[in-house]
Amino acid sequence: MKVSSKTVRCLFYFMFIAELGASLNCTTSCGNRGVDIRFPFWIKDRQPDQCGYPGFALSCNEGDDIVVELPPAGKLHIEKIDYRNQVILASDPQRCLLRQHPNFNSSVFNIQFEMSKINFTIFNCSLNNTRPPNWMAPCLSTVNYDVLAVDSELSIEGKESLLSCTKMYDLPVPRDIRLSWSSPNCGSCEATGKQCRLRKNSITELETECYGWHRQDKGAFSFKYSVHCSVFIAPSFSFFYLVCI
Ligand SMILES: *[C@@H]1O[C@H](CO)[C@@H](O)[C@H](O)[C@H]1NC(C)=O
Ligand SMILES: *[C@@H]1O[C@H](CO)[C@@H](O)[C@H](O)[C@H]1NC(C)=O
Ligand SMILES: *[C@@H]1O[C@H](CO)[C@@H](O)[C@H](O)[C@H]1NC(C)=O
Ligand SMILES: *[C@@H]1O[C@H](CO)[C@@H](O)[C@H](O)[C@H]1NC(C)=O
Ligand SMILES: *[C@@H]1O[C@H](CO)[C@@H](O)[C@H](O)[C@H]1NC(C)=O
Repeated sequence: MKVSSKTVRCLFYFMFIAELGASLNCTTSCGNRGVDIRFPFWIKDRQPDQCGYPGFALSCNEGDDIVVELPPAGKLHIEKIDYRNQVILASDPQRCLLRQHPNFNSSVFNIQFEMSKINFTIFNCSLNNTRPPNWMAPCLSTVNYDVLAVDSELSIEGKESLLSCTKMYDLPVPRDIRLSWSSPNCGSCEATGKQCRLRKNSITELETECYGWHRQDKGAFSFKYSVHCSVFIAPSFSFFYLVCI
């Protein structure tokens, strides 16, 4: 059978479009906070599963914070993701780690804390919404009682907001929380300005591949291969030309 050049051009065109279609745009963020969320992370309610790697699901809260859930510790907020070194800097605004640290496990992350130099004093208080929000430990609080974590070196003389409180104990509080991961290993791919994704047709093995979307600083993408290709629509023909220079 003789294959016409028209058929070949059409096939080429369809393969080109198929390849573009297969490259899902998996880069997103929570609001406009500037922290890019991309593979191996994905936002589980907003993006398809193939945008991420198992164990790396994130979510966005009402305040556009990026939330990672590490049961039983609770929900940490992600401040920064260093894709090259495969490290997350996280914070614990709910102070859930007062309940759990430092002995909790995560299957995907290696967790490191830097404890604050000073202890915090934990108070159990009856409800009073005039207290400074940065003292609150919502994760330890209950419906009827607020739990506060107050810098132990702070003089509590005359601190009216502690009047209806009982001191519970002193505890160092984790300050810097670093979560690092070793698998999938995409740091070296990221270092070349490219990105990882799940290798197609290897659903069972969870292999990744480094692919050629070039990442620019503002999170935009441009197609960067060693050849530049354009698709031209020829008005008098029923097919498209793919021109490469
Ligand atoms: C962490 O996980 C390991 C293995 O699953 C388990 O043996 C260990 O008890 C866990 N540690 C804590 C503090 O949960
Ligand atoms: C913090 O509290 C622990 C336990 O109560 C105590 O052993 C430690 O010396 C305290 N550290 C500081 C800096 O006060
Ligand atoms: C705080 O005190 C109340 C009353 O004594 C008690 O019911 C509650 O369990 C305490 N909260 C904590 C976290 O210990
Ligand atoms: C709440 O705290 C303020 C001082 O910060 C105090 O004047 C007020 O009486 C407290 N209210 C209750 C219900 O304890
Ligand atoms: C992918 O989506 C993000 C966020 O919606 C956007 O900033 C970016 O420009 C998109 N990239 C491409 C190649 O469309």
